[in-house]
Amino acid sequence: MNWDDTTDTDATAERLVGASADGEDQAVEAALRPKDLGEFIGQEKVREQLDLVLRAARARGATADHVLLSGAPGLGKTTLSMIIAAEMEAPIRITSGPAIQHAGDLAAILSSLQEGEVLFLDEIHRMSRPAEEMLYMAMEDFRVDVIVGKGPGATAIPLELPPFTLVGATTRAGLLPPPLRDRFGFTAHMEFYGPTELERVIHRSAGLLDVGIDTAGAAEIAGRSRGTPRIANRLLRRVRDYAQVKADGLITQEIAAAALAVYEVDARGLDRLDRGVLEALLKLFGGGPVGLSTLAVAVGEERETVEEVAEPFLVREGLLARTPRGRVATPAAWAHLGLTPPRSQGSGNGQQDLFGT
Ligand SMILES: Nc1ncnc2c1ncn2[C@@H]1O[C@H](COP(=O)(O)OP(=O)(O)O)[C@@H](O)[C@H]1O
Ligand SMILES: [Mg+2]
Repeated sequence: MNWDDTTDTDATAERLVGASADGEDQAVEAALRPKDLGEFIGQEKVREQLDLVLRAARARGATADHVLLSGAPGLGKTTLSMIIAAEMEAPIRITSGPAIQHAGDLAAILSSLQEGEVLFLDEIHRMSRPAEEMLYMAMEDFRVDVIVGKGPGATAIPLELPPFTLVGATTRAGLLPPPLRDRFGFTAHMEFYGPTELERVIHRSAGLLDVGIDTAGAAEIAGRSRGTPRIANRLLRRVRDYAQVKADGLITQEIAAAALAVYEVDARGLDRLDRGVLEALLKLFGGGPVGLSTLAVAVGEERETVEEVAEPFLVREGLLARTPRGRVATPAAWAHLGLTPPRSQGSGNGQQDLFGT
């Protein structure tokens, strides 16, 4: 099993605040995707740089440089790849690293590309080694060697490719081998979105879904969306349901808060699992340090689930720290759960060591 994308685990599959797309998301997302750079909200740096790259290529009448998009799930990588194709008025072919098992799979795709076509390779860090090596040559020289036959009689037949633009997306830029990374002319690192940007995403989506929402309602949903447009859009849909059933359909701050309380997404975007981990850490272990395994047993979850599903967001939010002695709650964690830390907060408490690592 490959755990390189933490949001692919079973425990997150059904999660309202999970960042990977489920079936319902995929259907709705197509309708909500911005179609050009002007519609794409936030990521100012990336947008400005990409705009220059694409404009320059268009002015030269050339195919755009290869682009690498890195960033957490749900931040807009797939959307941007489609925008790149739209801005270049080029067709787009979509595939992913895990879908390319053999170099031959990649050769078949590459050799059928049209001139100027955009090839979107999602999860590019999960491509097989031989395919990766074929890609190096294709990116650099627009050429592949197709191997015909097996064993000593095998021969490599060089095949010219039309110029194309590779758009690679990865949640783990660090896992890309440097030779691959170096072959991209432009690398965009996508950041989590700020509250104002998420509010704009929510207003835009509400407009497209024909849902009434006021400023405070959008702000309430934005605050619980973990900096991620995909989550913002999903929470918006759940709040819309609630507003239709329990009220007159208009999303206000009260409606949004009440709806998300039903779904157990709290004011900071923590769900039941996240809160369970924090509560155990605070109430059972005095804020830590406590070992990961002990913490997992206390919340009745697998070690991996706690480590890969709950912790990254808690760490990002500054609620939990991973230290060599174990997991430790920060003062913000006590405040968030409305609890008072013990007076000897920190490392001095001998009793906590009973549960440590
Ligand atoms: N900058 C943005 N502005 C508006 N909507 C966005 C933006 N980024 C992402 N979205 C929305 O979030 C959803 C997820 O984006 P996607 O491109 O699929 O993310 P990724 O490929 O990085 O996982 C899309 O449906 C899109 O509507
Ligand atoms: Mg995607």
